[in-house]
Amino acid sequence: MSIAPFNLERFYARYEFEVPYIMCSSDPESFSIEELLSFESGSIDEFKKQWLGYTETKGNPKLRSEITKLYKDIKEENIIVHAGAEEVIFVFMNSMINPDDHVIVHFPNYQSLEEIARFKGAEITRWETKEENDWELDTEFLKKAIKKNTRCIIINFPHNPTGYLPSKEKLNEIIEIARKHNIYIFSDEVYRFLEYDNNDRLPAICDLYENGVSVGVMSKAFALPGLRIGWVATRNKEVLEKMAMFKDYTTICSSAPSEYLAIIGLKNKEKILKRNLGIISENLNKLNEFFNRHKSLFNWKKPKAGTIAFPSIKKEINIEDFCLDLINKKGLMLLPGTKYDFGTKNFRIGFGRKNLPLCLNKLEEYLVTSSSSISKIRF
Ligand SMILES: Cc1ncc(COP(=O)(O)O)c(C=O)c1O
Repeated sequence: MSIAPFNLERFYARYEFEVPYIMCSSDPESFSIEELLSFESGSIDEFKKQWLGYTETKGNPKLRSEITKLYKDIKEENIIVHAGAEEVIFVFMNSMINPDDHVIVHFPNYQSLEEIARFKGAEITRWETKEENDWELDTEFLKKAIKKNTRCIIINFPHNPTGYLPSKEKLNEIIEIARKHNIYIFSDEVYRFLEYDNNDRLPAICDLYENGVSVGVMSKAFALPGLRIGWVATRNKEVLEKMAMFKDYTTICSSAPSEYLAIIGLKNKEKILKRNLGIISENLNKLNEFFNRHKSLFNWKKPKAGTIAFPSIKKEINIEDFCLDLINKKGLMLLPGTKYDFGTKNFRIGFGRKNLPLCLNKLEEYLVTSSSSISKIRF
């Protein structure tokens, strides 16, 4: 069995560095090394002195110490640093999921959260959500979906692509179901800390559940994807041991300069988060106005967290054709929901970048001046 192409990543690989206006990014506006180092006095000289030998396979202890501050009951020994969240997903699925296992996964989803378990031979049940139900997860479905061999429930809050964030009560319900059946919860929390209201922030699964596995990364909330620094945090020793063993076959250890820069990023997380949430808030105001002007064309609901949402088009048109026409005519990229294997109407929009107003103008121009050559629809 060969692994299926990662559709979203293939779409990005084709267009991201060719198209001038990208309006579907999930990572917020990033920083230069110079800007990042300016947050910490003395760090330029310190950065130059960083040793370029191998680092600890579990991750630089100072970095792990900064990471523990994102959690309540997590210690340095509960963390393993990886090359981005993507490596955490790959290593967890490879070390913990077996061919006889059954896995339940939040859907739509960032494809690797489902695909690697399938590639390992596990049986997959998609825990489907719908736009008309505000992407709400139904725990009655979850209870019925559990089988004798269910090994893991895979969730992602705040969610890619819908922006869905459940209540604390809903999260506790999911944990109780998992606990009753002794099932792991693998929780992708890469957009955590980007809640628009701090009261909506969920505790991390590794703090709430003894068999909970949390994924964090510098790429999203902290806007530093080029560092390729992510981590797993869990109190489950078996998971940590198995993942550490598997990681010896992937990256062994992280990039030393990246670990140093990640420490600076985390030490200054309040400044970074404030700046990111400021950009997001301004962009969301613009998006609300835009979608109000185009109510007849799009279904839109502002999410509670994160940098992305998954609105849909009301017209009789395949969203992939719409997105490709938009790229061709305006050099503007939106991500069609077809890349999530999710119908032909939804598309991912990203609002963490400073150029959103410019991108939105391009979209507006397209809607006002174009009639779609592919469908003969006048927008
Ligand atoms: C939900 C989710 N998990 C994991 C990743 C992978 O993150 P990274 O690129 O930092 O490895 C992404 C990236 O878009 C994501 O959206």
